[in-house]
Amino acid sequence: MKLIILIGCLFLLDMYFYLGTVSVVNKLWNYKIIFKIIYWLISILVYTGIIYIVVTYNKTTPSVRFNDSIIYTSLFFILFTAKLIGSIPLIIDDILRVFRYVFAFFNNSQYTHDVSRLDFLKKSALIVSGTLFSTLLIGMQWGRYNFKKNYQDIFIHNWPTDLENYKIIQISDLHLGSFNDVGKLEEIVEMINDEKPNIVVFTGDLVNNYYHEAIPYVNTLKKIEAKDGKFSILGNHDYCDYVMLKRSSEKWKENFKQLLALEKEAGFDLLLNESREIALGDKRFNIVGVENWGAGNFNKDGDLDKAMKDVDIKIPTILLSHDPSHWNEVVRGSKYNIELQLSGHTHGMQFGIEIPGFKWSPAQYRYKEWAGLYKIDNNQIYVNRGLGHLGYAGRVGIMPDISILNIKKEI
Ligand SMILES: [Fe+2]
Ligand SMILES: [Fe+2]
Repeated sequence: MKLIILIGCLFLLDMYFYLGTVSVVNKLWNYKIIFKIIYWLISILVYTGIIYIVVTYNKTTPSVRFNDSIIYTSLFFILFTAKLIGSIPLIIDDILRVFRYVFAFFNNSQYTHDVSRLDFLKKSALIVSGTLFSTLLIGMQWGRYNFKKNYQDIFIHNWPTDLENYKIIQISDLHLGSFNDVGKLEEIVEMINDEKPNIVVFTGDLVNNYYHEAIPYVNTLKKIEAKDGKFSILGNHDYCDYVMLKRSSEKWKENFKQLLALEKEAGFDLLLNESREIALGDKRFNIVGVENWGAGNFNKDGDLDKAMKDVDIKIPTILLSHDPSHWNEVVRGSKYNIELQLSGHTHGMQFGIEIPGFKWSPAQYRYKEWAGLYKIDNNQIYVNRGLGHLGYAGRVGIMPDISILNIKKEI
């Protein structure tokens, strides 16, 4: 039933966009029949593809079908997103037509029948959708694996003076199920190791759903080198919660157990509501890791009290927590002094603009802290933009992120 409604909605959108723009194409091009055939042929292919994926997708077995078809689903997604956003000028045009009709009607105008579309709005619809489609397509080809090192100085007031320029590399949101290229992960590992980090942290979402998505990548993850340790936490996608499996089921338990084992095999010290004290001679600080805690409907397995139980609060504390909403909702208001939280999860919505002095992404309407460093009083949060991708197999403007954090003492 949901599938029929989905296809029905897509068809209506298709029809609306087609009827709104076809006359512009007719004026520009003599072979309107060819445009008609191409437009509807693509649409029929898309509908068939969607029906095939939905009907054959088995939600209860560890299928990789979704991950294999991410290119196709992304193409469907960008095509319909482009048509949807491109329809905005047509909707504006329709609203104006209603006003024009009503105005003319009450003025007894003989031109009430002339409520044709405005030519420039029809052209705008084509330009907007064409530009968006090609931008998203370019993002799939050149943005998806265009890894970027983001360097950030972070000042902590009680940081040990002798640990000046302590280098923490943060990576996040690998979503290995949609990564599709071990060679690209090798490239990432090389970029990390070149920096000779003191510590490497991975802040969750190793997979999309199932542990086995990570198997082809474990040997590569093992190669990440860090002098003082590699730490990780879980993200909301690491709990296999989005595939209709009950947490009480054997399948769920087995999947979770295997995922924890893979994190260990990759060389990460996975922190499940627990802490580690890093002691370098008499210089000390805490690394604390919580399970996923997200505002709204996201799972709330994170337990800050449990994680902070053995922590010496007199020394600086760095908290790893996948979802940045945890910072505002729990961490900042808690009784603990947490000088720095490292999060991921937002992916910067894989779309936006980031230039020196200005950044924008639709992510900011959902998350107050969505990319980079934020500070309120003595609390700071740094949000990594993610390395992998989910849903849309591309990146525009907000590139896959290797965060190189240089920790210094605030003077
Ligand atoms: Fe993620
Ligand atoms: Fe996430």
